[in-house]
Amino acid sequence: MIDSHVAWFEDHVRSFLTGDPQDDAHIELKRDHSFKVLAEARAITPTLDLSPGLARAAHLAALYHDAGRFPQYRTYKTFKDAQSANHGHLGVRSLRGHAALSDLDPATRALVLGAVVMHNRRELPTGISDDLSLVTRVVRDSDKLDIIRIMLEHLRPGGKESDVVMLHVEDDPERYTSAIVTQIEAGRIGDYALMRYRNDFTLLLLSWVFDLSFRASRRMFLERGHLDELCGLLPRTPELTRIGDRIYDVLNR
Ligand SMILES: [Fe+2]
Repeated sequence: MIDSHVAWFEDHVRSFLTGDPQDDAHIELKRDHSFKVLAEARAITPTLDLSPGLARAAHLAALYHDAGRFPQYRTYKTFKDAQSANHGHLGVRSLRGHAALSDLDPATRALVLGAVVMHNRRELPTGISDDLSLVTRVVRDSDKLDIIRIMLEHLRPGGKESDVVMLHVEDDPERYTSAIVTQIEAGRIGDYALMRYRNDFTLLLLSWVFDLSFRASRRMFLERGHLDELCGLLPRTPELTRIGDRIYDVLNR
């Protein structure tokens, strides 16, 4: 059971609250995100043929994947890794420092820490074990599904406003970065470092579809209407319409 970890995590996150409403809202956003990513992982793992131990490792990794966000925000007041530190690495350091995984057997602990450190890489490295690859991919799919929910709450007209959540991008309704379009046309994930405008963020979220590993995740993306909503936010140019069509094909694989 992972109930004791859920309880520990709740307590742990509480220690990052400061009483400042804006700062606390950012901490609570990441806490809620962590629980929602756990819920997504719990929806995905039953569709895979996993041993109970592997499913448990995936669920723990989902819960803890953003453990680095809390020290990151406390120290740097941003969620932008390029302006602060890699939050996957911060997460491993924080979980080790707090002995959060001390009750796990060493193999499970290694899976959880490995998934935490790799959840935010642009691409999964080759040469890792099948088990680690599987656990990490469950976390990456779950994470993406929930981040898209959060980002849509901010991107849709009249939505929430937060420069921190939006990673400080410029709000210009017509502009977008063509280098990101080129990456998507090549079937690749967009690069955070190239992102300048809100539309780039929308494009980046669409490009994540290329990295969704499991059919269940692709179904959820479609059934929740994310494709239509994200495409509807973009300027109506022929090149962006083509991208929407292409993503639709990938989702139906
Ligand atoms: Fe993350």
